[in-house]
Amino acid sequence: MKKFISVKDAYSIPALIESALAYKANPFKDKSLGINKTIGMLFLNPSMRTRISTQLAAKHLGMEAIVFNVSNEGWALEFEEEVIMSGNTVEHVKDAAPVLGKYFDVLGVRTFPTLKDKAEDYSEFFIQQFIKYSGVPVVSLESATLHPLQSLTDIITITESFKEKRKPKIVLTWAPHVKVLPQCVANSFAQWINAWGQADFVITHPEDYELDEQFTNGATILHDQKEALKEADFVYVKNWSTYNDYGKIYSNDPSWMLTQKKMEVTNHAKVMHCLPVRRNVELSDEVLDNSNSLVTQQAGNRVWAAQAVLSEILKSIQ
Ligand code: CP
Repeated sequence: MKKFISVKDAYSIPALIESALAYKANPFKDKSLGINKTIGMLFLNPSMRTRISTQLAAKHLGMEAIVFNVSNEGWALEFEEEVIMSGNTVEHVKDAAPVLGKYFDVLGVRTFPTLKDKAEDYSEFFIQQFIKYSGVPVVSLESATLHPLQSLTDIITITESFKEKRKPKIVLTWAPHVKVLPQCVANSFAQWINAWGQADFVITHPEDYELDEQFTNGATILHDQKEALKEADFVYVKNWSTYNDYGKIYSNDPSWMLTQKKMEVTNHAKVMHCLPVRRNVELSDEVLDNSNSLVTQQAGNRVWAAQAVLSEILKSIQ
């Protein structure tokens, strides 16, 4: 694996799940695989889970991880081609990325979307520049439109939580939020669940919150949340801003918050969220604190997803 920015880079989802669960059972089984190798982890935006889980995954593989919080420690980066750099940006990615490629064997990058320019965001303009100019494998730590390490984690968590000999019904439901949030987690979850093909997949959201069909094609889309939740085995809760009229909040209808009462129509569904979560805005306390909430297990599994991916990247550069 020479890069990991989308499900298209995953050679086999079942094999990655198997690898991640093997690392969960025995974290240090490949403790020499990454010896003398270093991953540079660049954060242009904040993180807790992605940063720490990836650092731990690297450590388990014997690899060094160096974190660089670009947004508050580094020079302001310029990404536009042929720009006259007379403004606030100090260093062009064309100059910075090759230097990072000299320092590191693998580069992890977190960038968020502008939520202003849809074409730029959906071209993955920022992370593509690191791929183009660094010369080393790039792992997405969440990009403008996708969050593949999160989605692999989500499927690992579903796999270890569902033992019946039928496909689970998985519902991705929109939830209210006070901020304008990216579509990344929802896009990526839809992309991975569809590619995995092992679920009856339903997405529910208010009208005007349609996601990009390149990710959702294959899912059933419903605007009636109660109808969607019926007989669900898993309910994945996430807010996203509008995709068509890009980056807006059309409605923050609190009636879309997931409550325990709404869970009554499900098949004793397990509840998932990528975190961080706004309590009593997206989900009620009683749902998050219920024994059916998988959110802590899910966040814990970030380590094993990252380890499975890093091990494949390391094998490709031995
Ligand atoms: N879920 C997730 O990516 O969390 P962080 O933003 O804390 O990394």
